[in-house]
Amino acid sequence: AQRIAIMGAMDQEIALLIDSMKSVKKVERGGIAFYKGKLKGQKIVLLKAGVGKVNAAYSTAVLAENFRPELLIFTGVAGGLHPEAMPGDIVIGEKLVQFDFGQIDSTGFSVWPFRKLDGGRHQELFVSSDAALVESSLQAANEAKLEPISGREPRIFSGVIATGDVFVSSDEKAKWLFGEFDALATEMEGAAIAHICRSLDIPFVIIRSCSDNANNHARVNFNQFVGPASVNSARIVLGILESM
Ligand code: ADE
Repeated sequence: AQRIAIMGAMDQEIALLIDSMKSVKKVERGGIAFYKGKLKGQKIVLLKAGVGKVNAAYSTAVLAENFRPELLIFTGVAGGLHPEAMPGDIVIGEKLVQFDFGQIDSTGFSVWPFRKLDGGRHQELFVSSDAALVESSLQAANEAKLEPISGREPRIFSGVIATGDVFVSSDEKAKWLFGEFDALATEMEGAAIAHICRSLDIPFVIIRSCSDNANNHARVNFNQFVGPASVNSARIVLGILESM
């Protein structure tokens, strides 16, 4: 039995998991509520990190300090960037990159990352998820019963996820993120969690379900699909725990 941490950023993202837990005990550390208990027979600690990189980094650090997890699974929604990653589709993050770490270019539009000097303690611009956890996430995603969204069966991708402290809702910026980083999806926590986990040697994986396409329709689509997309991502987590 490993000590497993499960994290989401928002209430919707962890709702199904909290409701599915058994013998839950709530403890507070550093202003964060941690839910300890059993899920699919595994001993877990579940928490809501809050939105954005600072909340994600802080929560991961408080989690690590107080609960010493042996692995961390993040579950939540993202904006799809790959032309085929539509709302409902799943993106397993193999690599995480901060897209807003660097320097604004001469147009004042794009924010370019440092290519040589990364701010992470480990000096990596792209931080890799644990390969075995990516494998079991893909397997669980393929085997899970996922709700169709917009009448489509979710497709499953794995690859780069680009993280930044903004909700992306522009065709132009979405295209730029896809081209610049080869990122399949964008969200606001993954790379921060990745950096902390990498520094502390905690194997992790970031699982995302697309609520929108980070384009001009993103706000409307997000509101429409954040609920069902969150549930699908959480079902993958349940599948992973079941397979352990
Ligand atoms: N999470 C879900 N959709 C997103 C978007 N378009 N940008 C940032 N984070 C998101």
